[in-house]
Amino acid sequence: LALAGCGADTGTAVDASDASPITMGFSQVGAESEWRVANTRSVQEAAAAAGIELVFSDAQQDQDRQIEAIRSFIAKGVDVIAFSPVVETGWDPVLREARRAGIPVILTDRAIRTADPGLYRTFLGSDFLEEGNKAGTWLDDRHIRAEEPVSIVEIQGTVGSAPAIERQLAFAEAISSNPQLKIVASTSGDFTRAGGRAVMEDFLADLPDIDVLYAHNDDMGLGAIEAIEAAGKVPGRDIEIISVDGVREGLQALIDGKINYIVECNPLIGEQLMELAVKIVAGEQVLSRVVTKETVFERSAALAALPDRRY
Ligand code: AHR
Repeated sequence: LALAGCGADTGTAVDASDASPITMGFSQVGAESEWRVANTRSVQEAAAAAGIELVFSDAQQDQDRQIEAIRSFIAKGVDVIAFSPVVETGWDPVLREARRAGIPVILTDRAIRTADPGLYRTFLGSDFLEEGNKAGTWLDDRHIRAEEPVSIVEIQGTVGSAPAIERQLAFAEAISSNPQLKIVASTSGDFTRAGGRAVMEDFLADLPDIDVLYAHNDDMGLGAIEAIEAAGKVPGRDIEIISVDGVREGLQALIDGKINYIVECNPLIGEQLMELAVKIVAGEQVLSRVVTKETVFERSAALAALPDRRY
């Protein structure tokens, strides 16, 4: 992109008619879930619609690959870098390299933990604490008068990732005032369906009386349903299931009574990302945090939403 004056980081945009297209380097986490596939599609379609050249890289859930991709974007001299960090920590050195090169960085979907918030311009994505809180509050309300202990198993997302950390934390906090609600096991299924199934198989083998499953995404919940059915139990009845995302298959399972409650996490953030990128490259100020709008689903809401669901 042609900019008057100095680097892309601080320059003033020239007349749009003279400008070559913005180039965005985008490092995606992977393709671990239906949510992620929809998120990738949203980013790619929005870039094409906005006339932004997208250099896309899939890290296959590996932080080193993401760091390598970001370094290659810096070497190419892209106008802006966006990435969805697989884990929260370990980004400062590479983000300092981007800053030295004058390339602004946007975090999408997941946050990082850093003492230097000047390493990125904005973070666009869900409030994972709010999601965990919604899941826990629903369960607490449902068992408010429980007289017996309610055994909860949790299948966490990728270890060290922002959604796994925050969904776990806020859920535990939301149920903490109800002494009958007890998390008896919590293991990572890495946000994949195979992971969810394997973890649930282990839980079922080790724990005789599971009342509730809290899965950090639909894919792991759907994998766990396979394990529950294979063990001769009825998902949604013998074991209540709460998951996060709201992908089509998740909503269908909710309609079929196999999942009881879904907290939405919205992957369709491509358009907002491109709008932010255009402003940042033009030297405009943007909010440092942009939170995605989300809802929750019980059966009736899932029935209403499914026909128009795009992912
Ligand atoms: O970071 C968002 C999470 O990552 C989604 O809930 C999950 O499905 C995905 O893999």
